[in-house]
Amino acid sequence: MIDSIRQVIEQVEKNPVNAFPSPLLTGYSGKRMIAALQGFTSLLEGKDGVCYLEIGVFQGLTLLSVAGANPKVPCFGIDNFQAHDPEKKNMNILLERRQKLGLDNAHLINMDYEDALENLPKYTQGRKIGVFFIDGPHDYRSQLMCLQLAMPHLTDDAVIIVDDSNYLHVRQANRDFLVTHPEYKLIFESYTPCHPTNMTAAQEAEAREGWWDGVNIIVRDKANALPAQYPPTRRNRVLFENDHLTHASRIGELAPRALTVLNLLFTGRFLRAAKNLQATYREYKNLRFKGQFDDANTFTQ
Ligand SMILES: C[S@@+](CC[C@H](N)C(=O)[O-])C[C@H]1O[C@@H](n2cnc3c(N)ncnc32)[C@H](O)[C@@H]1O
Repeated sequence: MIDSIRQVIEQVEKNPVNAFPSPLLTGYSGKRMIAALQGFTSLLEGKDGVCYLEIGVFQGLTLLSVAGANPKVPCFGIDNFQAHDPEKKNMNILLERRQKLGLDNAHLINMDYEDALENLPKYTQGRKIGVFFIDGPHDYRSQLMCLQLAMPHLTDDAVIIVDDSNYLHVRQANRDFLVTHPEYKLIFESYTPCHPTNMTAAQEAEAREGWWDGVNIIVRDKANALPAQYPPTRRNRVLFENDHLTHASRIGELAPRALTVLNLLFTGRFLRAAKNLQATYREYKNLRFKGQFDDANTFTQ
């Protein structure tokens, strides 16, 4: 299986071909990523009791592209539609697209990924995951938990594809998983110099043809055939250690807001800083989860 996985990657690097192109399918993913997911999933064809699973469906670009290219393979996608969905329309867009494309093998598990993975056999009718695509919440803990919670449900030769591996904290989660679970090996990695949001139009077009926002591909290597390799991270762990202070603060939930305000102030954008501060204060007033003390809150009441 590892050789076949490698062949798919080599093929996709040379010439990524979308085996199920459709003008209906738009979303956040690169051409190489879609071709690789389709290619890995084609390796499951004819095998009983296995499936493709992804976390982070959005409007269905990856789930439906994979299901369309592999109509005989059951494909599952987990999403609770909590992000990138201000008008709450993504689930309907996904279901409409699935119906228009007639993809009966594409199944939505409309849940938080932790709840879904903890009871996965219930939703996949006991199928094991042969191809696992992680493209949901990108915080460090979620990235690590996606890997850890999926472990009991993976086939012996599963392939795991982690999108958005450009991010340092995503690479750190992958590294921490690989170091602590030596039977899993990094087989491929690719990055761009920045997130597509910060790219020029030309760079973004190139990322769309490629892996979009960086990728790590991990295989289960029970025979220990591959050497151990890790994605690059920084030895300085201060950002991860800051977690402790954020968690124990009275208003830890506002940390992202506070950073936005400070960054605007320090870069001289005072009007925007003031507007953001107002919004932060409104959020502070409605905050439900506040600590009793300024810091060192233990939440043990
Ligand atoms: C970047 S989008 C996925 C893009 C998608 N793969 C595509 O083909 O366009 C990330 C998705 O993860 C979902 N998500 C975020 N946190 C989640 C959670 N805790 N449980 C389940 N899904 C989650 C969001 O609702 C969002 O739709």
